[in-house]
Amino acid sequence: MKFKTIEWKGDRVRILDQRRLPQEVRYLDCRDASSVTQAIRTMAIRGAPAIGVAAAMGIALAAKKTLSHQPEAFHKSLEKVCREMRQTRPTAVNLFWAVDRMKKILDQVYTHGVDETKERLVKEALNILKEDIEINRKIGMFGKRLIKNGDRVLTHCNAGALATAGYGTALGVIYAAWAEGKRFCVFADETRPQMQGARLTAWELVQKKIPVTIVTDNMAGWLMEKGQVNLVLVGADRIARNGDTANKIGTYSLAVLSKWHGVPFYVAAPTSTLDLTLDSGLDIPIEERDIREVTHFRGYPIAPKGVKAFNPAFDVTPHSLVHAIITEKGLIRKPFEKNLKRIKV
Ligand code: MRU
Repeated sequence: MKFKTIEWKGDRVRILDQRRLPQEVRYLDCRDASSVTQAIRTMAIRGAPAIGVAAAMGIALAAKKTLSHQPEAFHKSLEKVCREMRQTRPTAVNLFWAVDRMKKILDQVYTHGVDETKERLVKEALNILKEDIEINRKIGMFGKRLIKNGDRVLTHCNAGALATAGYGTALGVIYAAWAEGKRFCVFADETRPQMQGARLTAWELVQKKIPVTIVTDNMAGWLMEKGQVNLVLVGADRIARNGDTANKIGTYSLAVLSKWHGVPFYVAAPTSTLDLTLDSGLDIPIEERDIREVTHFRGYPIAPKGVKAFNPAFDVTPHSLVHAIITEKGLIRKPFEKNLKRIKV
């Protein structure tokens, strides 16, 4: 990739501001934890694994910037930062998973001294970043055999390098298949209301010179009816024990359409997206965002003033509609409950 989604710069966290893409490639330098929480909340950085990395780096940054040498005070102030990170976005479990990893180091090491804890926290955040890239590569390796020459792959939202530390999950599979010499084309749902498909997925694929066609979200059914799609590949924000999968709003409709038209529907996600504490998708918290994202387009009103609107950012696809889940540990097939438990250590 010619860009870095997120980078540790020692005294700051550098984030590629995804709100400005594709018009402008502008980096945001976050010099304290609250700028990182703000970047996550406002979706300057977004995508389940990427916000996990951002939260971890935000905590590491807060640790580095803490002046206190008193372990108890240091611990208390970082606990507060962890709490604030958890409150940024509720659906993607990777965020909570990353904060838990950081909090564990904090709890284990702080009595050894503030300096050592700072070092360990920075190291852990960098590990999370590095591991995520390796995991994405493995997802690509396992998933690439699902794509054949001449395929027409539909994807939703952005599950690419921009949504992760690098490379991507669903797009990682596409990159791996392409790198192997397979030739196929991709349809990118534009993904209302934030347009991650049109703005971000298309931007990534154009850079990689992979043929991509943007379609509006309501075109998928017709494309499938015309036999124009033979594989659907999406990412995930949280997967419950039974395989029910939360992903960007609109994913559920695609899964239903896929079932009707006999098109295989695959989810690509790292095991950090599995939440085995939840029985089913009914328990997954679904973020609701400002209705202005629906009633306005980039600040411009597109609906009558004062009209009601509804803006859930995610939906849940029942496991029965999912063919298999592509993880860094391989392709997980049904029964998901048994097979997901086996791979999550
Ligand atoms: O609201 P977003 O843009 O953070 O939603 C992102 C998605 O729904 C992605 O598909 C998901 O996080 C997987 S990213 C590898």
